[in-house]
Amino acid sequence: MKTKLSASVMCADLSCLKKDIKLLEEGGVDYLHFDIMDGHFVPNLTLGSGILRSLRKITTLPFDTHLMIEEPARYVPVFAKAGSSLVSVHVEACSHLNRTIQLIKENGARAGVALNPATPLYRLDYILEELSQVLIMTVNPGFAGQKLVPITISKIEKLGEVIEKKGLKIDIAVDGNVSFANAPVMVKAGANILVCGTSSIFHPHLGIKKGIAKLREALK
Ligand code: DX5
Ligand code: ZN
Repeated sequence: MKTKLSASVMCADLSCLKKDIKLLEEGGVDYLHFDIMDGHFVPNLTLGSGILRSLRKITTLPFDTHLMIEEPARYVPVFAKAGSSLVSVHVEACSHLNRTIQLIKENGARAGVALNPATPLYRLDYILEELSQVLIMTVNPGFAGQKLVPITISKIEKLGEVIEKKGLKIDIAVDGNVSFANAPVMVKAGANILVCGTSSIFHPHLGIKKGIAKLREALK
């Protein structure tokens, strides 16, 4: 399966976002990843739905929205309607996960579930068949620029085995410290979508063009 790149918009230069989006398009990234934080589920605040609506007018890249918010069902319709192709919610943040997943689909988006590093895979046991994507957090969500939690690599492997055994077609995305060194290890473990932030394509010393090229080289 071809490895796809999802560029983390919160790591872009927000003072010239249009320029950065153009560079991402030219570099052939597959998705724009929106990290939405509420200051409760995670100790940080980031982007809102307004930025998706604005960017929806200037790019055709699909939006992959990652809701790091408590009881995300409250915000699923607004983020789906703002142009998300896929909306992921955290299993730890939902009292009624099945209902929330149905709500995402009713609002016209594909559904994903995200797992924090310490959350076991069995939390997916009764929902996996309903999903288009599982997002394995490889750092604790909330901030860019953190170090990989190493145990999450074996979790990617185990998830791949479960998906294969069940004969399902579900993307495995990884989010957090997807660096030039870690990305090939994650792909080898079974990830096919890489969320790329400050560790790769928004690397502070490289710039987007070189960051994408270096990541593709690392994945060869
Ligand atoms: C964590 C975030 C990220 C961020 C990516 O909550 O979801 O992990 O986009 O980037 P890095 O870790 O590369 O700065
Ligand atoms: Zn994310």
